[in-house]
Amino acid sequence: MRKARLGILISRTGSNMAALLYASRLPDAAFEVVIVASNNPAAPGLALAAAEGVPVFARDHRGIARADFDALIDAELRRVGVTHVALAGYMRLLSDDFVGNWAGRMVNIHPSLLPAHKGTHVHERVLAAGDSVTGATVHLVTPDLDGGPILGKIRVAVIAGDTPDTLAARVLHAEHQLYPRVVTDLVARRHPA
Ligand code: GAR
Repeated sequence: MRKARLGILISRTGSNMAALLYASRLPDAAFEVVIVASNNPAAPGLALAAAEGVPVFARDHRGIARADFDALIDAELRRVGVTHVALAGYMRLLSDDFVGNWAGRMVNIHPSLLPAHKGTHVHERVLAAGDSVTGATVHLVTPDLDGGPILGKIRVAVIAGDTPDTLAARVLHAEHQLYPRVVTDLVARRHPA
């Protein structure tokens, strides 16, 4: 089977990127990671990707118009033959053109059970709301922020005494299980054996 060629966009730690990368190294993986790109040249995940032999592209977005910056990223993704894009803690709004270019082939992971708690400061809001269950969601990216079609969810219990940090850490463990599974399912749709 021809493998899908995944490009991953990160802004921060990149633990979901690492989960995808290592999943791609399992026998029979349906995708390979062909580039990790970031709007933050200091993102720790870039060093990991580079150490693992994955090409990286980093450019500080500041001072560049959103559409122009996204066009730079888009050009890099195309240059290396990306077929699918995974946003993994990419904390930038995307221009409509970029979203349109990758429609149906770009996913995001969000640390809540969407449609609950879209946006930022998710774990604080889960705790403030008194939710007993939270989790993570992978969805297709559309112009509707955190509102695209849902491809998969995983549930995580909230434990008495949880803080935003303890909850975030546990949700991340769950994210790392969910994301490779959903990406595998997505690319199988477009890359039949
Ligand atoms: C993850 O929890 C991810 O769901 C979240 O940022 C974190 C990135 O962690 N993304 C969003 O909130 C996007 N709206 P990572 O850099 O270790 O993968």
